Amino acid sequence: MIISSTTDYRAAAQKRLPPFLFHYIDGGAYAEKTLARNVEDLADVALRQRVLKDMSQLDTSIELFGEKLSIPVALAPVGLTGMFARRGEVQAAIAADKKGIPFTMSSVSVCPIEEVAPKLQRPMWFQLYVLKDRGFLKNALERAQAAGVTTLVFTVDMPVPGARYRDAHSGMSGPNAAMRRYLQSVTHPQWAMDVGLLGRPHTLGNISTYMGKNVSLEDYMGYLGANFDPSISWRDLEWIRDFWKGPMVIKGILDPEDAKDAVRFGADGIIVSNHGGRQLDGVLSSARALPSIADAVKGQIKILADSGIRNGLDIVRMLALGADCTMIGRAFIYALAAQGGTGVSHLLDLLEKEMRVAMTLTSVKSVSEINGNMLVQSR
Ligand code: FNR
Ligand code: LAC
Repeated sequence: MIISSTTDYRAAAQKRLPPFLFHYIDGGAYAEKTLARNVEDLADVALRQRVLKDMSQLDTSIELFGEKLSIPVALAPVGLTGMFARRGEVQAAIAADKKGIPFTMSSVSVCPIEEVAPKLQRPMWFQLYVLKDRGFLKNALERAQAAGVTTLVFTVDMPVPGARYRDAHSGMSGPNAAMRRYLQSVTHPQWAMDVGLLGRPHTLGNISTYMGKNVSLEDYMGYLGANFDPSISWRDLEWIRDFWKGPMVIKGILDPEDAKDAVRFGADGIIVSNHGGRQLDGVLSSARALPSIADAVKGQIKILADSGIRNGLDIVRMLALGADCTMIGRAFIYALAAQGGTGVSHLLDLLEKEMRVAMTLTSVKSVSEINGNMLVQSR
């Protein structure tokens, strides 16, 4: 199988993974309109082609929160990454590390913080979800700090899990889910050996470490629904802000008014995101939401953006729309599921190559030159 794009990695991931995992990654909420628009609206962003400006030297790197990134990309937090490849968080984090970009560990990862952080050269980022058991909050922050985590990503668009219809059909949840998952594993032997057998323990590593016993993944979405705390508000963030000494970034901002609140609160950054279309269907795509957010807060706070990025050209488009940096979710997860850390490394190299092509043909030599002047109305 020839692999030269995210689309190819998606096809390879679909072959290798049992359907309940593939559809958990691939799917979105309700009718999946926002999921589709994330990709379509970004693909519709037209850039001005400029030529003959000697583009033999160009620089794709940026500085963000005192760190150097070789390309303006961080791996987004993705729950259950260790179910998509053997100890998947370790493999993805090492690939990001080698590329010189941050890996963000999800609160609901399979591997715990302590299994991943010591294997990396650069500091890891950590994403926080607030559980009803508030003891987890303090425990996770203390452990993240002890492991040398710098940037804290606080995700605010999942006080409750979105309605994801595919999960019930795929065996992720729904009737006889455990039996259906077992049958799917048997018919996907490569995954069954690599992850099912050799990738154990299958648990939520961070929460299990806190609880002192393994949290079962038998009903993962049910667990999230029962344990995530929908009462979170700006007031809870104040305690976290006081505790956390490093940069704090708020993920899941889609409205200029919330972006202004994040500035007033004193956050170091925001991530413009609709959670990859997995939460409230029908909301604006990130590409559509970003320009007015950038108008409201650009320069006052770092703006990251995700949802819909599938190639290096999309990264340049997000930056032209107003982002300082981007995050990728599914793109690296498909690569990880298909080929482990090797796949993620290859994908990151592809993104860089594609960014270079886009920068060459728009005549921008550095990321700081990418801005709204590059945009053109195409219809
Ligand atoms: C996610 N996302 C996510 N976000 C987060 O803050 N914590 C999490 O645990 C997860 N888990 C998760 C699982 C899976 C399977 C996916 C696909 C996504 C959202 C993620 O960080 C990011 O916002 C989106 O993936 C971005 O959209 P794209 O790049 O997938 O289009
Ligand atoms: C998801 C969660 C875990 O999107 O963020 O599935």
